[in-house]
Amino acid sequence: PGCTYTKYGAPKVDLKGATVGFSQSEATSNPFRATETKSITDEAKRLGIKLIQRNANANVAQQNTDIQGMIAQGAKVLIVAPENSDGLAPALNQAKAKKIPVLTIDRTVQGSACSDYIGFIGSDFTGQAKIAADDLATAIGKKGEVAVLQGTSGNNVAQERTKGFNDQVKAQYPDVKIVASQTANFDQATGQKVAAQILQSNPNIKGIYAQNDTMALGAIQAIRGAGKKPGTDIKVVAIDGIRQAVQNVASGIMYSDIETNPRFGPLAFKALQDFYGSGNGVSAKVIIKDQHFTKDNAAQALKEGRVY
Ligand code: AHR
Repeated sequence: PGCTYTKYGAPKVDLKGATVGFSQSEATSNPFRATETKSITDEAKRLGIKLIQRNANANVAQQNTDIQGMIAQGAKVLIVAPENSDGLAPALNQAKAKKIPVLTIDRTVQGSACSDYIGFIGSDFTGQAKIAADDLATAIGKKGEVAVLQGTSGNNVAQERTKGFNDQVKAQYPDVKIVASQTANFDQATGQKVAAQILQSNPNIKGIYAQNDTMALGAIQAIRGAGKKPGTDIKVVAIDGIRQAVQNVASGIMYSDIETNPRFGPLAFKALQDFYGSGNGVSAKVIIKDQHFTKDNAAQALKEGRVY
């Protein structure tokens, strides 16, 4: 049985009449973020629910201010895409004290479900990392040096994508050596800079695993900058499934891409309806389904409009 408003100790809210607040963590220059925001906005509109929203542009302090601002503006329910897994305590404690339910999407927050937040919807990040490890190992013939561009530190996504990859390489590919693993903040320019440094100190690298696509795009620039050819000299595997990356997979510039599905709108509002309904309530964790783009299916996926 899931979490309901009675279990959570929240007043009953009629979603149609209430204001729902959405807190986006990062800039919508990342297509993952743009698509996620659009999905939430579109579904609220479709259901006739009043939505207010803020974007914290990757600043945790700003996200606390954003959430508190929406509470002050009258939000009775919150959907939060957290920048950080433990830095939002000030805002979330305030929501809890006011019995305002918080649903988190795409990253988790510390605390317990149905007490500090109502539930979480997102990808299987460890599973994504395992597929990335299998793909990158295969791409380099299960032998050679690889590097990892990690996401922003302080959140479960980067942690699980790091651990899942390391564990899989260790368990399955004894001849694959992770020679560098550094954060590049889920950001393209940082990805390029960090990848350039790594390539300079490790000239034998055969593969790069980028924990999101924007960093992969930066890594591709760095590979070219180092006078090498992405897809031939150095294989790149990444996560998210943004259009430009899937096009790179189709054309052989990247080896593969694992989707992070940002289409949370229908699932998030369904979860809120279950929370206020008489049914089973909201699950502590809902895993969204992701696609796996390879050379064999990338062009088809683009053609069928399955790529954001
Ligand atoms: O939390 C999901 C991750 O955050 C996405 O993979 C990345 O692109 C985003 O910044």
